[in-house]
Amino acid sequence: MKNLLSLEKLERNDMETILGRAAVFKRDRATHSRTLLAGQTWALIFSKSSTRTRVSFEVGLREFGAQVMFLSAGEIQLGRGEPIKDTARVMGRMIHGAVIRTFAQTDVEEFARYSGLPTVNALTDSEHPCQILADIFTITERRGPMTGKVVTFIGDGACNVPLSWVFAAARLGFELRIAAPKGYQPPAELLQRAGGNVVVTEDIAAAVRGADVLYTDVWVSMGKEQESAQRLHDLSRYQINDAVVKLARPDALVMHCLPAYRGKEIDEATFEAHADTIFTQAENRLHAQKAIIHWMVS
Ligand code: CP
Ligand code: NVA
Repeated sequence: MKNLLSLEKLERNDMETILGRAAVFKRDRATHSRTLLAGQTWALIFSKSSTRTRVSFEVGLREFGAQVMFLSAGEIQLGRGEPIKDTARVMGRMIHGAVIRTFAQTDVEEFARYSGLPTVNALTDSEHPCQILADIFTITERRGPMTGKVVTFIGDGACNVPLSWVFAAARLGFELRIAAPKGYQPPAELLQRAGGNVVVTEDIAAAVRGADVLYTDVWVSMGKEQESAQRLHDLSRYQINDAVVKLARPDALVMHCLPAYRGKEIDEATFEAHADTIFTQAENRLHAQKAIIHWMVS
């Protein structure tokens, strides 16, 4: 039984298998077999909002022949306090796989353990593994292998997206730079545990100079809404804009996992100038996640 709960746990060869397969599923979307999950029912259990993750998993699972159930956590007994481990044991007796978006990483891990189902982390407070696999697929599609590349993340460096980037850097041998103010940087213990070539700094210019990829995410992640005013204040300098882009390589990709808040983590002109990359990145969630599911069940 394979799960995708964290990039920390994903071996390099499995990552490469998924990335290679994503390209095939993208190329052959119209013609590939529709029977991988025929006769199966998969559930999406979401405790947070989603557009891309929900749509791409629903479409991808259907393209493999599965039936899909979307369960908003607030509308099932989970939202009224039924334990994860009981929910998991019920689901484990009825369905064939689960895709979960929630707060605590331990909840996804507990669900996988008690359900016995192939389980995907569709974002927790700690990681967003599907996003980063799709992003790496996008970079390699446009710029070739990751080896030797410099990826610079600017913004809230302590949220799920940059933390998954840290684990990916350790596996794939590229340089990751995180430009974030103190208090928004990845925990030192996590950086040490992950290893890899990761530089964390408050200095945006130093982080961006010579970068192949500039990447950002929202300043206020889901669940942090009560900190909005403080975050907007603390992160106000950590924006991708024209001045920042000019410091990177001339052909640097500008990426955003979306949703984007113009005038906050990225300005309108920069976002629109790089919209083709950003929406290809969103599209690639579909192909990468199909590759993840294929890897899990094969
Ligand atoms: N990037 C991403 O995961 O988007 P959604 O929150 O819309 O799923
Ligand atoms: N860091 C963001 C990612 C959204 C896809 C959040 O958790 O809200």
